Amino acid sequence: MDYTIEELISAESLASKVKEIGTQIEKDYSNTDEIILIGLLRGSTVFLADLAREITLDAKIDFMVVSSYGNSMNSSREVKIKKDLEEDISGKHIIIVEDIIDTGYTLEKVREYLLLREPASLKICTLLDKPERREVEVPVDYTGYTIPDVFVIGYGIDYAQRHRNLPYIGKVIMKESKS
Ligand code: IMP
Ligand code: MG
Repeated sequence: MDYTIEELISAESLASKVKEIGTQIEKDYSNTDEIILIGLLRGSTVFLADLAREITLDAKIDFMVVSSYGNSMNSSREVKIKKDLEEDISGKHIIIVEDIIDTGYTLEKVREYLLLREPASLKICTLLDKPERREVEVPVDYTGYTIPDVFVIGYGIDYAQRHRNLPYIGKVIMKESKS
């Protein structure tokens, strides 16, 4: 590997943060019959699996695939829907669950796309937020951690499809770089 990995967020911290977000969601939706958690594959899978189990409300789970970085570290800015939902979300309370919001293009596109189906409500929940990199504004309702402009992996998040199974969030440090 031409890079090393340095721990940024421990597995213990992630567990308590996910519990905290779950509790907040449960509180916010206490008068709601049913919610649909919508995960964006593949980065959100680990977060969504843990988050869903911290929520005792009746929750459906569905997934979408949107094009992402490919094998590079930079966003393509051109977001394509590659796999749509299975569930009908019209009139339903939905929460989009994402691993990271970076430039904002992915969530902006998914949000606009899903709003066309007229859900009863739409909220966005992201584990990580890199505000320094934002290029388009997207309303985010639940944020786990605000992080600096570093490339991260683990807990579902990949670098060229690797490291998704790390139980913690790590920072990728390129060997030739000094930071
Ligand atoms: P955005 O469209 O630029 O907001 O990018 C969001 C997507 O880019 C996320 O779903 C991630 O898959 C990916 N991404 C952004 N930052 C990172 C990172 O640090 N590591 C791995 N993937 C990232
Ligand atoms: Mg992704």
